[in-house]
Amino acid sequence: MEGDNVYLPHVMKIEKVIRETQNIKTFHFNFKDESQKSKFSFKSGQFAEYSIFGEGEATFCVSSSPTRMDYLEFSVMKAGKVTAAIHELQEGDEIGFRGPYGNWFPLELLEGKNLVFVGGGIGLAPLRSLIWNVLDNRDTYEDVTILYGARSPADLSFKYDLEEWEKDDAVNMYTTVDNGDDDWTGRVGLIPPVLEEIGPTPENTVAITCGPPIMIKFTLMSLEKLGFTNDQILTTLEMKMKCGIGKCGRCNIGNIYVCKDGPVFTNAQIQNFLSNEF
Ligand SMILES: Cc1cc2nc3c(=O)[nH]c(=O)nc-3n(C[C@H](O)[C@H](O)[C@H](O)COP(=O)(O)OP(=O)(O)OC[C@H]3O[C@@H](n4cnc5c(N)ncnc54)[C@H](O)[C@@H]3O)c2cc1C
Ligand code: FES
Repeated sequence: MEGDNVYLPHVMKIEKVIRETQNIKTFHFNFKDESQKSKFSFKSGQFAEYSIFGEGEATFCVSSSPTRMDYLEFSVMKAGKVTAAIHELQEGDEIGFRGPYGNWFPLELLEGKNLVFVGGGIGLAPLRSLIWNVLDNRDTYEDVTILYGARSPADLSFKYDLEEWEKDDAVNMYTTVDNGDDDWTGRVGLIPPVLEEIGPTPENTVAITCGPPIMIKFTLMSLEKLGFTNDQILTTLEMKMKCGIGKCGRCNIGNIYVCKDGPVFTNAQIQNFLSNEF
């Protein structure tokens, strides 16, 4: 961070804006002070606090991969005040950025394993950071399966990534939508039943999932049906946050601070702290 004030953000410049869907945009950004760039590093799964002068701060993961550092990316679904202001940003505009914060996907535990990524909607943002990280070190992992779903074809984000993964022989790529349209020739179906149909083996496998709470709930049930244990499932939690650094108490579940102890947890850890909470 610049100086001693942990709340003081770096100034970043927006280099490119990609409209993913009607309510999701991805931003390529970089340090305004280029000398800061070489000092910065992050890991897949970590998040940051992004600020718009006069509007406030909001939390987003870094959705690009640490293996590709020409620029950083974050992807934003319009939800309220700050995200609406972020959607107005144009190439050349500036934002505040403090981070990276939180833990990350444990790459060393994923080595030599089959990986099953299950993402819904904007939930692909943190997963794609890890997916590109894995694909840039492809020989370190066994089978890579990606299942991505959205409500409709128009709601599919990161279509440029989906196309690349479709073409990649080293990836088993499945895309599904809840409801098709006249032009859609792909798969139609909710993520959990499609996952059961694909039927990945739990043997030597880790499933990594992120998406809306309802999708996560049923995806966890499907993974359980397929024989996955809670230790074999990783997810990233999106509790409301403020400071991002374990000081304000906004994000706690019992004595767990999601910003500091997470946001990446195994399902076993989540079940454990939820049972202590209630
Ligand atoms: C670790 C982490 C990573 C995240 N990564 C991303 C990301 O990559 N892309 C992305 O689009 N969003 C992400 N989010 C969610 C994002 O932080 C919120 O959508 C955002 O802060 C909303 O800000 P706002 O001022 O626009 O909305 P507000 O005006 O604050 O709220 C609008 C509505 O959204 C609800 N809301 C706000 N924050 C959250 C939250 N964290 N979870 C659930 N509901 C919320 C509010 O209760 C309200 O109903 C992440 C959250 C966390 C904690
Ligand atoms: S966001 Fe402040 S303690 Fe976690």
